[in-house]
Amino acid sequence: MTTPIKFCSNASQFLIGDQLSEITDQLHAARDETFADVDLLRSGGEIPAEKQPLDSGFIDLPQRLLGGEDHLVDKILSSAASLRTRIDRLVVLGIGGSYMGLRALFEALCDPYHNELSRSERGDVPRLYFEGNNLDNDTMSSLLKMLKTQCVRPQELAERWGIVVISKSGGTLETAAAFRMFRDALGEYYGHQSHLAQELVIPVTGETGKLRDLSNALGYEHVFPIPDGVGGRFSVFTAVGLLPAAVLGMDIRAILRGAADITELCRTKPLGENPVLDYVAACHLLERDHGMDMRVLSTWGNRLEATGFWYDQLLAESLGKHERGATPLTVVNTRDLHSRGQQHQEGKRDRVINNLTISEFASEPISIPKVAEDLDQDQLNRIAGKTIPELLQAAIQGTNKAYADEKRPTTDMVLPKLDAYGMGQLLQLFMLATAIEGRLVGTNPYGQPGVEAYKNNMGEILYK
Ligand code: PA5
Repeated sequence: MTTPIKFCSNASQFLIGDQLSEITDQLHAARDETFADVDLLRSGGEIPAEKQPLDSGFIDLPQRLLGGEDHLVDKILSSAASLRTRIDRLVVLGIGGSYMGLRALFEALCDPYHNELSRSERGDVPRLYFEGNNLDNDTMSSLLKMLKTQCVRPQELAERWGIVVISKSGGTLETAAAFRMFRDALGEYYGHQSHLAQELVIPVTGETGKLRDLSNALGYEHVFPIPDGVGGRFSVFTAVGLLPAAVLGMDIRAILRGAADITELCRTKPLGENPVLDYVAACHLLERDHGMDMRVLSTWGNRLEATGFWYDQLLAESLGKHERGATPLTVVNTRDLHSRGQQHQEGKRDRVINNLTISEFASEPISIPKVAEDLDQDQLNRIAGKTIPELLQAAIQGTNKAYADEKRPTTDMVLPKLDAYGMGQLLQLFMLATAIEGRLVGTNPYGQPGVEAYKNNMGEILYK
């Protein structure tokens, strides 16, 4: 395994007696149940009522895909390579689990100014736009307008755009409505009956459902599956995340290797040597015995913000059931030290601060220049030569110390490098942690029955 994610915490100071040892057997049992759920799913046998729905298919998926299952990785790579050379703008439509994982990968692994770079600076891959993730008239009409005004010569690569539409159920109104509109715009641009209007649309959807039916009716050549047994928010390592990631030139095999490696580590290592279990133990005990039911994912880097939002969904939809479950909150530091920091330092003692840091940044460290003494009014000559990562380290240590001095618990998840392998590890780690915690506390981590209520009401209002 390339360097694994590291986890440490000062939580033990806050625990009563030797709670970590006391919980070891329960945690190992929850982990074993989580992995046994994979066998249960794969057995094809009847799933007991209390286990339904069972979406444990994400757990061994990276390993299976690396092993060549259905040649899916090859198919994704070949489709992505072809799409990449035929368009310069990719519109991805999807919401929730059909959106946030890709957004996390995009923000972490692509240049922060990706869409503003020239095609060659982008590595010969298209720009990326997200839609279908809201009902916002302004953003949707802006994107449609921009495509209409900036793309006027369909024969030019620089002015060609395409769509990846993602919906497991196919019945999600936000995505379905957006697909109808962007499909219409695409048809108007290339000609409704043209090959391009067909070839530049790739649906990613479940084996059955409205989008599957529509894709069949429209005769799209490539339709990628979202397998049964993998829930939306656990689907980043299906074509949902991997296809657009491959179009953008990400190393999807490295992503899968990271995910498979952390899965194996989680399956085999005991508490104390297992970052997944160690993370669950600290968060769970602080919540159970100290009422710390706010989980602040304190990310130290702008490129991790979308990962935080993805995790917000994962935790909230998985464990926010039966009037229980911790409340997730993502912050990006040092930015949010200037907004939420006060409350974390002196507000209610209801939260654990889970730091997420990166050891090695992708770019060369930038250092503070020295200036002439008569222009040192900002007094930064004292730290001239120090780099931005050094300043950040000081901020991380200073903030952790400030919390520790106030007896506020922190944990530290350290990602060795913000690269494809590291992101594979990180996302899988959080998915495993969430599933295991669900089994530990007796909450089925899969399914999101509560989300149906608003959809039903909305349907009644719209279709009556
Ligand atoms: O986690 C989930 O299952 C949800 O967040 C879904 O991903 C989201 O509601 C979108 O569903 P669909 O992919 O069916 O359009």
